[in-house]
Amino acid sequence: MEKKTALAAPSILSADFGNLAEAIKRINESGAEWIHVDVMDGHFVPNLTFGPKTVADLRPLTKLVMDCHLMVDNPQDFIKSFADAGADYFTFHQETAVHAHRMIQDIRAAGMKPGICVVPGTPVSVLEELLGELDLILILSVNPGFGGQKMIPRCLEKLVTLRALREEKNYGYLLSIDGGVTADNAREAVEKGADVIVAGSAFFNAANPAGAVQKMKGL
Ligand code: DX5
Ligand code: ZN
Repeated sequence: MEKKTALAAPSILSADFGNLAEAIKRINESGAEWIHVDVMDGHFVPNLTFGPKTVADLRPLTKLVMDCHLMVDNPQDFIKSFADAGADYFTFHQETAVHAHRMIQDIRAAGMKPGICVVPGTPVSVLEELLGELDLILILSVNPGFGGQKMIPRCLEKLVTLRALREEKNYGYLLSIDGGVTADNAREAVEKGADVIVAGSAFFNAANPAGAVQKMKGL
């Protein structure tokens, strides 16, 4: 059987915010397929980062998929502005949305692909009613807010569960893992079921970005 590989999604959270154009160039030239944009509001998570203008300003610099991860309260307020900015995936947190089902419809109607994310303390069972509607499920393997943390290995089991459910029910979502992914544990994440590997510090701290992407892909 052919060895399973993943798409690589470097996270600009670990880039120099004073030189994001250079960060995009580094990603463009690395062989990665996606760019992960961590949006933080200082309420849902204890940090502040980017908004839709950042995405709009970066959009002309790359053809890669713009994978926006909204760690914000009231994510519904930002669907239109991120769609207008050129985001491809709009991933919100299950913990922030009572009306997650409606959110998914609204994201799709705005022309983006809907994703949902769960923090380490949220079981994937709460997603049951939504699984058939989603294009992406993002499993956080650290408590969100900051890059460079150590992976919580137990979170990888969520990939195993969701991959089995996808096979059983023929669902269409991709599985992504985010937080503490390194050259040493990426292969395990891919084998457990990750289709997309997000990495911030492991990518931006690497001397060789193309080599880091090969590791993220599980090669
Ligand atoms: C965590 C963010 C991650 C972050 C990962 O709050 O959602 O996307 O960039 O950073 P690393 O790969 O350094 O753990
Ligand atoms: Zn993220």
